[in-house]
Amino acid sequence: MRMYDIIKKKRDGRFLTEEEIRFVVDGFTRGEIPDYQMSAWLMCVFYQGMTKEETTALTLAMADSGEKLDLSAIEGVKVDKHSTGGVGDKTTFIVAPILAVLGIPIAKMSGRGLGHTGGTVDKLMSIPGFSVEVPKEQFIRQVNELKLSLVAQTGELAPADKKIYALRDVTTTVDSLPLIASSIMSKKIAAGADAIVLDVKCGSGAFMKSYENAVELGRTMTEIGVLAGRRTCAVITDMNEPLGHMVGNSLELYEALKVLSLKDVEAACAKDRGLKRLVDVSLTLAAYMLAVGEEPNAAPSADTLDACRKRAVRVIESGEALDRFADFVKAQGGDPSVIYDPEKLPVAKDKIPVYPSKDGYLAYCSAEEVGMASLMLGGGRATKESTIDVTVGLELLYTLGEEVKKDEPFAYIYASENSDAEGAKARLIRAYDISETPTKVGTVILGSIV
Ligand code: URA
Repeated sequence: MRMYDIIKKKRDGRFLTEEEIRFVVDGFTRGEIPDYQMSAWLMCVFYQGMTKEETTALTLAMADSGEKLDLSAIEGVKVDKHSTGGVGDKTTFIVAPILAVLGIPIAKMSGRGLGHTGGTVDKLMSIPGFSVEVPKEQFIRQVNELKLSLVAQTGELAPADKKIYALRDVTTTVDSLPLIASSIMSKKIAAGADAIVLDVKCGSGAFMKSYENAVELGRTMTEIGVLAGRRTCAVITDMNEPLGHMVGNSLELYEALKVLSLKDVEAACAKDRGLKRLVDVSLTLAAYMLAVGEEPNAAPSADTLDACRKRAVRVIESGEALDRFADFVKAQGGDPSVIYDPEKLPVAKDKIPVYPSKDGYLAYCSAEEVGMASLMLGGGRATKESTIDVTVGLELLYTLGEEVKKDEPFAYIYASENSDAEGAKARLIRAYDISETPTKVGTVILGSIV
């Protein structure tokens, strides 16, 4: 087989066999295929696309390129969730303890975040004493006992994806649907769960700006998951503004703990649209995960999902989900009192008010720009080597459609001495368009693929 012929075949719009795709992935990972040929091939894929079979072959070849987690020592159907990436997404901290209480094992190994906010692991590091480096035996034991462990990835899952992603990043081939779908699913498949619920974000802060593209990505990933023997479904959710009010590592954990402390979820959401968006996405994901965890072979009906959602609400309101979170934190060396008193989480010392550019109604938000403002404060990593400040971030007081006044703060910046607070402030203000008349706002759950 020659890389030259495989590039030409794809360039001419013909389909590649599984053997040819494995040849490309394995050859590139071993360093036998040079970057210039791989770049040419990626660009051909970008323009010609891939069939479902080709995308699945690419996914499996990348998943097989490194370590694959064996979670078989964990009892029950292991359900994982994955978000395609958004701003202010703290749903894992809400969903994971709910499912653990309801008996669904959550065994999640996450990478550190790259980009505008930290990842799950970075956010957990804001808990005093908490360790994300847990030996494999403890991880398995803890999931069997508490049904919950969230740890940092140790070995390398899907190293081929990492190498290919780095090349995509510099050859403008990131936003190709088969390449995104295979990149995400290769890591999910290597992470070992039996069932996967995908949160496909759609809008100004997401890879997929249009609903049609988000559905296509969700459908492609779902098909790959099923062909790889994993029960997979997807929820399409709005990312035209950050999820909830807080953006930043300890701030996002703080907001998630506030949700887990609610005594009347519906009443709290009725008063607060930002909270409602966060709760809606969290409860929808929890409902799908619970449904596929309990009945992996059936497509969940609307009634089943509704019942699952109600059970999720009950374990929040009873305080059981918060208690489980505290047990999980204690098991991983953290201070569980923080869970009941989130004011104890570290937060940057300067709280700076930010005023909107004029009076009016928030009509448009570039969620990506909001994320970039948080990055300027030091809350994310520009490169894998950058250190992260878990204490900085943003508090957004209003959501789209709401009225703001130019002499009243519409947000706060939490900054430390190394933050570019002025830059972040300017970027945050520019992220919003303000209109004179109220604009229509949509719902946060846009669709699903089961
Ligand atoms: N997330 C990934 O892991 N890969 C992509 O290609 C895009 C988003």
